[in-house]
Amino acid sequence: MPAAIQVCYAPADYERRPPAFWRGRAAVVFDILRATSTIVTALAAGCGGVRCFRAVAAARRYAARHARTALAGERDGVPPPAFQYGNSPREFLSWPPAYDTLALTTTNGTRAIAAAADGGAARVLIGSLLNLSALAEYCRRAGLPLTLVCSGTGADFSLEDALAAGALLAELRRAHPLVSLYRANRADLRRALHTSRNGRRLRAIGLAADLDFCLQRDRYHVVPALAVDGVIGI
Ligand code: MLT
Repeated sequence: MPAAIQVCYAPADYERRPPAFWRGRAAVVFDILRATSTIVTALAAGCGGVRCFRAVAAARRYAARHARTALAGERDGVPPPAFQYGNSPREFLSWPPAYDTLALTTTNGTRAIAAAADGGAARVLIGSLLNLSALAEYCRRAGLPLTLVCSGTGADFSLEDALAAGALLAELRRAHPLVSLYRANRADLRRALHTSRNGRRLRAIGLAADLDFCLQRDRYHVVPALAVDGVIGI
């Protein structure tokens, strides 16, 4: 019998967990609107690696010491002052030749990635709809027990991350309540994302095109994973 699936539905479920919570497990982090979709897109376009930061100041300090690192991310959906890029995957459809790597800090996504990394998960994988089939293949082959980390919106649950986690479990043919949630919405995922709290927030600041981009299933066949040096690569 496959090991039980663990799910973190919101930050309170993944912050400050003891190492025993993560040990021996593959943590698949979803923040499909938009941090994990951005990481998948940037790496697929040729970015050499993504380093995630919880805090804007730490990302700035790192970029100041690494000349070919671009600063990207958001607070309240928009780039912090003096950042070269925001958190839109559409900014990375082609990788800017002036840079090798990305220093990324976002409200929830990079926090969730840092929580799984600091907790000592055996693998930290980056999940989105953009790379869902590749991710399912990877999980099947790795055979590790899964912890699905839905990054959430602020302190709360986010529908879009739960739907993506359900889509992965459906692909893996695992029985779980998230699969029912996904099946109930899959005929009109676009509507679900556009009416979600995060979707409405991004639409209100003129970023509806990001929602449609992030909805694309299997645009990329890559599985970003965190390496021992703390850099996410493919
Ligand atoms: C996050 O990490 O909270 C998000 O990706 C938010 C956003 O893109 O606006």
